[in-house]
Amino acid sequence: MVISTFPEDSTDTATDNQRGATLLIVWHSRTGAARQMAEAARQGAMDIFEELEVGPQTRCILSQAAETTPDQMLQASAYLFCCPENLASMSGAMKEFFDTCYYPVLDRIAGLPYALMVSAGTDGAGAVRQMQRICTGWRLREVAEPLLIRSGAQTPEAILAPKRVQETDLDACRTMGATLAALIA
Ligand SMILES: Cc1cc2nc3c(=O)[nH]c(=O)nc-3n(C[C@H](O)[C@H](O)[C@H](O)COP(=O)(O)O)c2cc1C
Repeated sequence: MVISTFPEDSTDTATDNQRGATLLIVWHSRTGAARQMAEAARQGAMDIFEELEVGPQTRCILSQAAETTPDQMLQASAYLFCCPENLASMSGAMKEFFDTCYYPVLDRIAGLPYALMVSAGTDGAGAVRQMQRICTGWRLREVAEPLLIRSGAQTPEAILAPKRVQETDLDACRTMGATLAALIA
């Protein structure tokens, strides 16, 4: 399957565009884990912005997948995508976000930095692989190893229960947010 044909003569790359210094965190969560991860990443980003005393034009926006528009994607200068693995793939809402935004921003965000965070029960590799493939199609630049946080949930009851992400894992999410934020600060 070909996601992008990467036209050789395309010059409309992200570096040509006027865009603010915005880290856009796009997230979806069904039982709360990925939401906590995304919020922790934003906290890490805000801490770095404060430490570096950046101006108000440097921002971190937390955006639910279902509400994220191609315009928001075009206005950002770095991306963090965060969702659960559901049935061996990224969650449906996250897939809908990529489906909605893929072609409107294709060839207009090339070269920008991104990273992934996935919340899973015992696996998560499928969701990571799918999102990496889409981001490769966008020609985004992966700047950190994907962060995969597993709850270990296996029974239907455990899988459907509200999640509470451990503090050490939230620390890793804060570091992820800080890493991306430092690149645009
Ligand atoms: C419908 C459904 C399908 C799931 N499929 C998988 C799966 O394929 N692999 C996996 O590791 N976890 C799977 N899980 C577990 C979730 O990925 C895990 O509980 C995750 O922490 C949920 O994140 P969230 O709280 O942000 O929704 C599934 C959960 C649900 C509700």
